[in-house]
Amino acid sequence: MVNERDRFANIRNIAMRIANAFCVALVGLSVIGTVTAYAQTDKRSQYSGTAATVVDDKGNLRVPSDYRTSYQVLGSWAVAKDDGPGSKDLHVVYASPGAIAAYRKDGHFPDGAVLVKEVFHAATGQMTTGIVSHADTLVGWFVMVKDSTGRFPGNKLWGDGWGWSWFDAANPRKTTSTDYKTDCKSCHIPAQGSDWIYTDGYPVLKR
Ligand code: HEC
Repeated sequence: MVNERDRFANIRNIAMRIANAFCVALVGLSVIGTVTAYAQTDKRSQYSGTAATVVDDKGNLRVPSDYRTSYQVLGSWAVAKDDGPGSKDLHVVYASPGAIAAYRKDGHFPDGAVLVKEVFHAATGQMTTGIVSHADTLVGWFVMVKDSTGRFPGNKLWGDGWGWSWFDAANPRKTTSTDYKTDCKSCHIPAQGSDWIYTDGYPVLKR
């Protein structure tokens, strides 16, 4: 027969074990949280707060493997079809953990912040809400990494305070971009006044 006291001791024991396991999990999480967008070199930044490396030590970018689960949605864009109603393409933009909070506080993206823009061809059909377009085929990704310190002066994919690259859907680890000045910059000039980012399209940045 187990008496009242033993039973209480038992419950306390189990509770302690659960608490211990929880602490171990927390320590594990905080270790992951210190890993950064930049490779583990002196060029690293403390801000991106996610497990996946986005920039190697030469400044080559890649699409962060975990952006769909650990990043936050910044906003989206719909590119209209030329013929008839609906969208031709849909763009969904993600920001690395902490980047949105930092922007809302300071009014700019912090060093190491990563933005990922997914580009989808859309499909359009009749739904109970009307004529609706939704994301269909993934075409690829645009990735930008904030760089306030000019880490890669000799690299043509870095400049104006950002690293810039496009990735075809088939190869998220290797960019096809060669020079951000010709591949990206001219199209982002209308957003120059907001650090080259089309911030007006993202309600979450507004305070
Ligand atoms: C044809 C013009 C054009 C080109 C070329 C272009 N962009 Fe953009 N980009 C835009 C526009 C316009 C937006 C916002 C509206 C949209 O997505 O349609 C945008 C949005 C983005 C966003 C989301 C953040 C933001 O600024 O709102 C990222 C990231 C991005 N572009 C990266 C790049 C990179 C990297 C390149 C070069 C490899 C590039 N873009 C080339 C026009 C362009």
